Amino acid sequence: MEPTQYIWMDGEFIPWDDAKVHVLTHTLHYGAGAFEGERAYETDRGPAIFRLREHTERLFYSTKCIGMELPFTQEQINEATVELVRKNGVKHCYIRPLAFYGYGKMGLNPTGAPSRLIIACWPWGAYLPHEMVDLKVSSYIRIHPKSTISDAKICGHYVNSILAVRELIGTHYHEALFLDEHGNIAEGPGENFFMIKNGEVFTPPLGTILAGITRNTIMELITDQGLKVSEKSISLKEALSADEAFFTGTAAEVTPIKSIDDNILGKGEIGEITRTLRTLYLDVVSGKNEKYSKFLTYVNQ
Ligand SMILES: Cc1ncc(COP(=O)(O)O)c(C=O)c1O
Repeated sequence: MEPTQYIWMDGEFIPWDDAKVHVLTHTLHYGAGAFEGERAYETDRGPAIFRLREHTERLFYSTKCIGMELPFTQEQINEATVELVRKNGVKHCYIRPLAFYGYGKMGLNPTGAPSRLIIACWPWGAYLPHEMVDLKVSSYIRIHPKSTISDAKICGHYVNSILAVRELIGTHYHEALFLDEHGNIAEGPGENFFMIKNGEVFTPPLGTILAGITRNTIMELITDQGLKVSEKSISLKEALSADEAFFTGTAAEVTPIKSIDDNILGKGEIGEITRTLRTLYLDVVSGKNEKYSKFLTYVNQ
């Protein structure tokens, strides 16, 4: 990790090394916190944060799901994020807001523990730095929607993702793929799944998955390209018959999938639709496509 100069903590910019918490911080023990993953991209007009408002909205949705009230408005958080990227002088970066219950209360009911919020940012390259990825179907299923609120980005959910990723250590697989409780495709540990069959695009419906902001963006781009995209349950068998498939995510951007459990998808090459969408997405996030400038918050203005 490449540290930057400042972290925003509970309303103040403090030096990176001073952003510390007590070991009895509530969220550290029980996982009831919420976070976001955002990116600022280098553009001709300086860094621009991609879909900042939507990320902050999702952060508020997630905190609401765990009953946490933040002592800041969404506008204040958006302003703090912009200011943080500007003050840190980075050209591009990953941005991590984290809302957590702090020190002062133990036990499962967090009432009485202070609600705290940090925002950090640092340069972070491609999350899956491969032309195409080989996936392994996880032996764990994606968190069950009746066990938690699956579409919230809650800290504790990520133990599910960590277990799936840990299964890959020492194997040739690049990333895991979760099925849901019915054996249908859910998503990756930090990515949403798309597949293409006969020129049509399919993605699993909301329910067990995170409502990815990149997923939402890509669906809009697909429609704008005159292609059809449908949300539908996808069995593993259907996924294996895909002509093309890809993952989406803030960190993973658009990552083409080569194989699932060693079954090569299509020709095993980056397909035409995937390639077009990836290029378009990278143009959109880096301010090269005016039509989608609504998604960008420029830091220096
Ligand atoms: C489990 C999971 N699914 C999907 C995504 C993709 O979401 P987004 O496009 O909002 O980054 C993420 C990343 O935040 C994730 O953690």
